Amino acid sequence: MNENKVLKPTTIIIFGATGDLAKRKLFPAFYNLYIDGRMPKGFNILALGRADNTNEYFKNYIKKNLENFSRKKITSEDWAGFQAHITYFQHQLDEESSYKNLHQKLEDFDTVYGTRGNRLFYLSIGPDFVSIISNHIKNTALASDAKKDRIIIEKPFGHDKQSAIELNSLLAETFEEEQIYRIDHYLGKETVQNILAFRFGNSIFEPLWDRKHIESVQITVAEEVGVETRGAFYEKTGALKDMIQNHLLQILCMVAMEPPASLESGEIRDRKVDVLKSIRRISADQVDHYAVRGQYGKGNINGVEAKGYRQEDGIASDSNTETFAAVKFYLDNERWQDVPFYVRTGKKMKEKHSYITIQFKPLPHSTFSESSQLLSANRLIINIQPLMDIRLQFMAKKPGLSLVLKPVEMIFDNFACQEDTPEAYETLLLDALIGDLTLFMRSDQVEEAWDVVKTIQEAWEDNKDSSFPNYEAGSWGPKESIALVERQGNTWV
Ligand code: BG6
Repeated sequence: MNENKVLKPTTIIIFGATGDLAKRKLFPAFYNLYIDGRMPKGFNILALGRADNTNEYFKNYIKKNLENFSRKKITSEDWAGFQAHITYFQHQLDEESSYKNLHQKLEDFDTVYGTRGNRLFYLSIGPDFVSIISNHIKNTALASDAKKDRIIIEKPFGHDKQSAIELNSLLAETFEEEQIYRIDHYLGKETVQNILAFRFGNSIFEPLWDRKHIESVQITVAEEVGVETRGAFYEKTGALKDMIQNHLLQILCMVAMEPPASLESGEIRDRKVDVLKSIRRISADQVDHYAVRGQYGKGNINGVEAKGYRQEDGIASDSNTETFAAVKFYLDNERWQDVPFYVRTGKKMKEKHSYITIQFKPLPHSTFSESSQLLSANRLIINIQPLMDIRLQFMAKKPGLSLVLKPVEMIFDNFACQEDTPEAYETLLLDALIGDLTLFMRSDQVEEAWDVVKTIQEAWEDNKDSSFPNYEAGSWGPKESIALVERQGNTWV
């Protein structure tokens, strides 16, 4: 976000460099930043993995993956330049001696490449390893300079409120809060960032952005994919912890936050924490009223037969993990009192579509009621992906001799040329290199977000849902989620 800060020569140390995230997102992001001339002049990527790979083998593996996952085409000239910055380093996450070797390697790098001790540690590993790595980094003094060293941590950050608090205090033993970059990649998406510009860069929308004019807000993140190869991880996680606690609540914060006084990272993060604090906590006996869970059974997606969740690899045949979750939230504050915020997310749904719907209130009185014309209330749709546009729905006169109205749509599609739109990880990695924390989660944000879902999480963990599987792969989720919004006369858009 901050264009004015300078990129310093840096060594990027990736823990879990042979994993899925590194191959699909991290290396492609660094490669694209490199092509765009946005990497620091002196940079090194030290790729850590357990296996005894040669540098050459690892680089070939990265090259092959770039061909599949890079936004920009890979050319031999660019690759030749980029690959010179990568070094593979065999490393065991749980062995102190490995960290001592790493220490030596980093010092050698500083001398050879002039990276002057600026280090960016990227923990692209399962949540169980965060504390182990952090402890070793501390014991071997790998990150001893608060001004030069940073750490990026992937979600999920902890597995509940208590574990997040513990993890935060453990990290605080080694790092200052300003050195910790907790990633939520949804915050790096262009369309999510654009919510700020749309709300606070225009004079016509913000005056309407409150309970007087808005009837309800809906946030949907529907995925067509299932759990793919991540069965073991997903079984322990589920949709509430995997998506709602982080991505959907962060989008909700962008929609609901008060105008920040400036674009300073602290200011924006304060306003988001205000939103999380104002979300009404759902009491244990109200969970069924406010939240719906689902698990997909077999079905059909775009004409292709799809397995049920319990038939996927690594999944228990009587699994109680939810692959769909919908929650109705209320915010207890002046702007949003009584406005329902519906959020839902699910895997193996009918289509991939993430979008926000702002449903405005209907007219209190219609001038056109005499002609018994049905007026649709105005609606604003912010499409996050794969469509990346903003649509305002309103009524207009149908061309012709009579005064007949019809709903029409005004579309802003600045993102149509997607080729030039950076991937979320490019934005976030660049911000981390620059040292801009705005799009990253602060410790209190993460803890509040866990607090918001706490009672739902406990109720769902403690009670098996005997109706599972309760939605077909290729549908829009369980019918109870429709009832959740219909109870108030609304429908999912
Ligand atoms: C990740 C979740 O954080 O986000 C995945 O762990 C999910 O389960 C993914 O599929 C969705 O991200 P995107 O960018 O594809 O919408």
